[in-house]
Amino acid sequence: MTALTHSWLNNIDLAHIAEEAGTPVFVYSEAQFRKNLDRIRTAAVESGLDSRVELYIPFFPNSNPHVLEPLKDMPGTGLLVQLPSEYRILRRFGFDRFIVSPGHVSDQEIDFWDTTGHPVFLASLDEVAHALRTNAPTISVRIDSLDSGKPGIKYAELDELVRLLKQYGRDLEGLEVYCGSGNSLEDMVGIVEQVFDIYLRHFPTAQSVNFAGGHGFDYDAWEESEKHFDWQEYFIRIRQSAERMDIPEHVKFLFEPARDVLADTGALLLSVERDVISTPVSNILVTNGCRMLMPSAQLRDRNHNVAFLDASMKEITSTVTTSAALRGRTILRNDYILPGDVLVPEGVGADGHLAILDVGAYCATQHMEFLNVPPAAEVLVAADGSPHLITSPGGEHDKWRNLLAEKRELPARPLREPAAATHGA
Ligand SMILES: Cc1ncc(COP(=O)(O)O)c(C=O)c1O
Repeated sequence: MTALTHSWLNNIDLAHIAEEAGTPVFVYSEAQFRKNLDRIRTAAVESGLDSRVELYIPFFPNSNPHVLEPLKDMPGTGLLVQLPSEYRILRRFGFDRFIVSPGHVSDQEIDFWDTTGHPVFLASLDEVAHALRTNAPTISVRIDSLDSGKPGIKYAELDELVRLLKQYGRDLEGLEVYCGSGNSLEDMVGIVEQVFDIYLRHFPTAQSVNFAGGHGFDYDAWEESEKHFDWQEYFIRIRQSAERMDIPEHVKFLFEPARDVLADTGALLLSVERDVISTPVSNILVTNGCRMLMPSAQLRDRNHNVAFLDASMKEITSTVTTSAALRGRTILRNDYILPGDVLVPEGVGADGHLAILDVGAYCATQHMEFLNVPPAAEVLVAADGSPHLITSPGGEHDKWRNLLAEKRELPARPLREPAAATHGA
């Protein structure tokens, strides 16, 4: 068994992809994305919740419309957007089912979303008050279940929210409550019941309850069955709680999974630039990657699984290893791609490659033009196995693409009317 035995990468011609698209390159699998969505849908059917479950996949963790294309033809699925620019680009690519969860935003942005008619989960009483004053077509709210600093209406504000809605004679369409984020399944079910309680007590006319994201994904596991969230058990428990608490059958249950459906659809292929550098201080493997290609690993202290490949892209499986830090290509002191060392097998050298697994969520989208490193290319392997370039590799001058050849003075300010003279006594 090798590191890639369980991965769709095992059947991909990585040499061809590296030749055509270069490295670094993010490689995504359509088949894996469909499989992950189907797993959730099957769990919904088997738990008896099928007609009530809707999935809205957040766009910010993987913002490539080509990767998300399967959502167009899957019933009961859509996209979660947070920025007008995301919405506009997705409309251009033909997507039409959305919910909006924008965090805290200006009145003008709420007005924009209201022109689209999609449910907007507003995050403060102030924002709701604006939507009510402007007769917004639909009103939904985000409730901060953890009473944390996250955007969201706090538990202690719910009575005031009810009063505001009543004042304008309006009902909530939906309420969104974040249930996951590292909670155990038992804790999540506890929050689900709290949400049902809020629904019954405060908003019994709402049409949907949105349980948001935070469904656990195990980055350390190799086997698919161990990586993914237990949707089957979760749905069964939600159904049981809904029955016991008499939540009406027409109330829809929305979910916003990102990691669980996207993480293992992507791998980052990097080139190894030299043999391991061993110094009295540390061992370093130099790559052509960059910490900023996947900062979520560093931010979350997440050591993704890694597979090493030889010059012909065959996996190197030697059990003789050197523990080394994975270095990116910039001068930055912290340009280490993963937070901890990796075990580099004997035989890895300047003609080799490595694949960092489970980078389909929160990696390519967090890349910045960091210290002038251009963005990586993206390749999508279609369900029939054919590879497609979906994002060109950044050009070496990307950082300067808006640089003007000549400096241009800003237009002069229009002259202001002189202030009216005041006549003293
Ligand atoms: C509002 C909202 N929905 C969904 C998600 C996705 O969460 P996850 O990647 O844990 O599935 C996030 C993550 O930040 C979020 O903020």
